[in-house]
Amino acid sequence: MHSYIGKPVSRIDGHDKVTGAAKYAGEFNTSGLAYGSVVTSTIAKGRIARIDASEALRVDGVLAVLTHKNRPPMANGARAYKDDVAPDKGKPFRPLYDDKIWYSGQPIALVLATEWEIARFAASLVRVTYKPQQHATDIFARRKRAFEVKKPAKPRGNAKKAYAAAAVRHEAEYFVPTENHNPMELYAATAIWDGGGKLTVYDKTQGVQNVQRYLRGVFKMKPDDLRVMSPYTGGAFGSGLRPNYEAVLAVLGARALERSVRLVLTRRQMYGLGHRPASIEHLALGANCGGTLDAVTHEAIAETSQYEDFYRNDTTWSGLLYTCANTKYVHKLVRLDRPSPCDMRAPGAATGVYALECAMDELAIALEVDPMELRLRCYSERDQNNNVPYTSKALRECYREGARAFGWDKRKPEPRSMRDGTDLVGWGMATGVWEALQMPFDVRITLTANGHAEVACAASDIGTGTYTIMAQVAADMLGQPLDNITVKLGDSTLPAAQVEGGSWTAASVSQAISNTADEIRKELLRLAKAMPHSPLADAKPGDVALVDGKIVSRAHPGRAVSIADAMRHGGAARIVRKRGSDFKDDSKHARNTHSAIFAEVKVDEELCVVRVTRIVSAVAAGRIINTKTAHSQIMGGVVWGIGMALHEETLVDDAFGRVMNADFAEYHVPVNADVHDIEVIFVDEPDAIINPLGIKGVGEIGIVGVAAAIANAIHHATGKRVRDLPITVDKILG
Ligand code: MOS
Repeated sequence: MHSYIGKPVSRIDGHDKVTGAAKYAGEFNTSGLAYGSVVTSTIAKGRIARIDASEALRVDGVLAVLTHKNRPPMANGARAYKDDVAPDKGKPFRPLYDDKIWYSGQPIALVLATEWEIARFAASLVRVTYKPQQHATDIFARRKRAFEVKKPAKPRGNAKKAYAAAAVRHEAEYFVPTENHNPMELYAATAIWDGGGKLTVYDKTQGVQNVQRYLRGVFKMKPDDLRVMSPYTGGAFGSGLRPNYEAVLAVLGARALERSVRLVLTRRQMYGLGHRPASIEHLALGANCGGTLDAVTHEAIAETSQYEDFYRNDTTWSGLLYTCANTKYVHKLVRLDRPSPCDMRAPGAATGVYALECAMDELAIALEVDPMELRLRCYSERDQNNNVPYTSKALRECYREGARAFGWDKRKPEPRSMRDGTDLVGWGMATGVWEALQMPFDVRITLTANGHAEVACAASDIGTGTYTIMAQVAADMLGQPLDNITVKLGDSTLPAAQVEGGSWTAASVSQAISNTADEIRKELLRLAKAMPHSPLADAKPGDVALVDGKIVSRAHPGRAVSIADAMRHGGAARIVRKRGSDFKDDSKHARNTHSAIFAEVKVDEELCVVRVTRIVSAVAAGRIINTKTAHSQIMGGVVWGIGMALHEETLVDDAFGRVMNADFAEYHVPVNADVHDIEVIFVDEPDAIINPLGIKGVGEIGIVGVAAAIANAIHHATGKRVRDLPITVDKILG
């Protein structure tokens, strides 16, 4: 009997990806395709006084220049622009809506031409004059104007009093700068004009149905007149959760020209989309004489735009993770003349837990205890915020197995006490935590008599391996070899799916597949029972499983009917069923994934150049469906954590309110030379409560805590505590 769940199955779409057969949003061709190029604002705040497109329009091949003045109609009210992932408060940005400038890099005109190069050249000839206003882009300069937003969890006890009474205190401010997503695939949309106003839009997105609903609202289109597709997505990490303006402008262009339009953003223009908000994280930890936590205060101040209140949970991980009687959380926002921030891998946790886990390291030093020992002393078996048990929590095992693999017991506690030639060696650790979310997803399975099954859902595979894990689960549930399964996703006409985000897709879609396969099994059993002398005549649906192409009695495996025979006898050429993930609300349990990260850095003593030579990440995330793709998810998160610790930073020139380093040359991300040994361990974490399959999902948990482990290792190596990310040479030297 085959079992694919839990195995390192290679990506079923791998061949298509490496051979180029997998097509991305900007690669779909059609006759008469026109090309768009966007003109973006060069000021951060004000109004457009005049857009002179006459020179651009004189270029041979230019078809139109659309601005807020001459564009086809779009919905007026901001409500029509609210998508599934939009912040509750505020009015979403409306591209080419009016003359108002909200941020530098805002799209203000769309040039359409017969060739991409012509469009791009002509865009450089569009002359824009502005009525600029005073802008603000520096979070520190504006922090006095910060306003408080809703906190996701209640305080406990009296943190202020407990802090004042604490035997050992640590208080500090940590800073995570603005970071921009840099997925490999550029943002792109190809709007295919199907005639009569109907459109098929290939968009780079993490949610085709979200984009479909949004575009329908913006352009007042009938549901059947608009299909949104995204069969492959070349990385997104949150930047494609909300519909981006490339989709709106491609549709706008197609409707203006009544022909198909492709719009691909440049790497530079992608810095005018969402980003991880800069955040100032203030931590105050108080410990009692026994060396456990008595007081936690976590205050976050993050940036948002002038038009929306975007924020995520930065603060309450601090009271969730560790036993502590007195906690206080404050979350504030500062309005800047910048685009709305958006989700970026483990939004809130990547930033908030960075600060918490550095602060815990500093507290451990003040207490003169091993940093892992402090975490074990404060270990909590319950979600402290809601006072409920976890569905499962194998964080202790993460500490133990991670520490063993790393050799943590050989660590000398004194900073600057470990060396390798001219390098100072530092070992640091941190905890990671993320939510194990699950969402309503629907799946349709079509089983044909030859054993082939098509599994369809409007989910996305943003590179995480969704195609593959869906095939694995379906193969196991239907008793078929993997090759018999075809997965269809990334199409708004398929059964309902949420955006691919929050690391919830694997648990959600797998449960929907399992539930749908149950229905298929029931129907197969009905057909099998109708056969003459059926060995399954007395069986109930729960008594049989689908194994190796057969309907098999669980109690008496000798009693079996082949699926093909049952379907042939019943005259069923195909069986089609659709079911949802059907999760029940469970407020009696907390659902989280955890990790323990151990980092080794080597720091050149004179130059202070840091190399992250070793990382061990031990992860507890329930049942792992695919140990290969899950491993890749964690490894990717660790690499990103290295970038967060050492490289990534969006630099805004506040004089112009403009991003200075909007390209790969100046915005640094880790390259191969920065990445050394990464070991990923999945600890056993059986979970019979979270969902029948015990799946929690991985992805975001991979980055949480990594930057803290590295920052702590740098302190251990050098004795220098740098709290402002990224930790660059100048900060260690300074
Ligand atoms: Mo992820 S930030 O949920 O795409």
